[in-house]
Amino acid sequence: MRYAPLLARLATAVLLIASAVPALAQVADHQYSAEDITAGSRLYAAQCTLCHGPLGDGVSGINLRQQRFRRPLSDDQLRQVVTNGVPNTGMPPFRLQPRELDGIVAFIRAGFDVTGTAVKIGDAARGKQVYARSGCATCHRIDGVGPRTAPDLSDIGSLRQPSSLQRSLLTPNLGMMPINRPIRVVTRQGETIQGRRLNEDTVSVQIIDDKERLRSIAKADITLTELGKSSPMPSVSGKLSEAEVSDLVAYLLSLKGL
Ligand code: HEC
Ligand code: HEC
Repeated sequence: MRYAPLLARLATAVLLIASAVPALAQVADHQYSAEDITAGSRLYAAQCTLCHGPLGDGVSGINLRQQRFRRPLSDDQLRQVVTNGVPNTGMPPFRLQPRELDGIVAFIRAGFDVTGTAVKIGDAARGKQVYARSGCATCHRIDGVGPRTAPDLSDIGSLRQPSSLQRSLLTPNLGMMPINRPIRVVTRQGETIQGRRLNEDTVSVQIIDDKERLRSIAKADITLTELGKSSPMPSVSGKLSEAEVSDLVAYLLSLKGL
């Protein structure tokens, strides 16, 4: 009998591990491998440093480490630039194998960090269509269009890194920012309010409730607060292809609130 709670806890631990493994395998499909990044770093040192410099900022107006190009480039476009060069500029064409191109792209996407993560970045225009047909706008708002029940994504591209955006899409429960955890409060008057926190300070909390109303509640009036651990956001894993997820990440990155 004394062991029962321990066994129950072990069972939970096993469940957690069992559910974490496929999630990680899923994420790995959407990122370049550590081997790709390392191979790319060697190739970069040998072929690109001469002009772009060890930090990627050797050509004016371009910073490869920070993904700053003449215009936003998808992974495929990056491969094309390296393969074809840029005519009438100093950027020469390179004859590289597909694996070598993957390496170069991976090293750039990892921000020149061989221990970093390199998220696959697709095409932002296609990603906009994926967003439109995947029902994202039934919860999210972009540039004033859509409800306020979920976070406004108008400037998400300047707030989050690619890997964090990808985590939100594939494993929402792991990607949740603390402020975005669903909240339920019960007031002294016996009212239950649930929704999403917009803001919180020492004396009050502002909540968008599940009917999309903005409520400001004095903390002194709250008798119970619960923060949910699971995200109301459905995972796109298994619903969208690897290419669609990379397009969606590209679209979200392009949202800078300008
Ligand atoms: C001989 C010098 C030189 C070498 C070597 C070189 N580049 Fe470039 N690269 C340039 C120049 C100059 C530009 C700017 C082209 C322009 O004005 O649009 C450029 C532009 C780029 C761009 C940005 C294109 C865009 O549309 O914004 C990328 C990406 C790039 N290079 C990647 C690489 C990679 C990867 C390598 C190594 C495989 C490499 N370059 C090697 C000179 C070089
Ligand atoms: C049923 C409502 C719902 C739908 C549908 C939905 N989301 Fe979400 N999403 C949420 C909620 C609630 C959060 C906040 C909690 C969290 O981060 O998981 C969120 C969080 C996010 C975040 C992280 C925001 C931040 O501030 O970190 C991104 C990015 C995102 N969603 C994108 C999408 C995209 C793209 C789609 C369509 C494929 C989508 N969502 C569909 C409800 C939804």
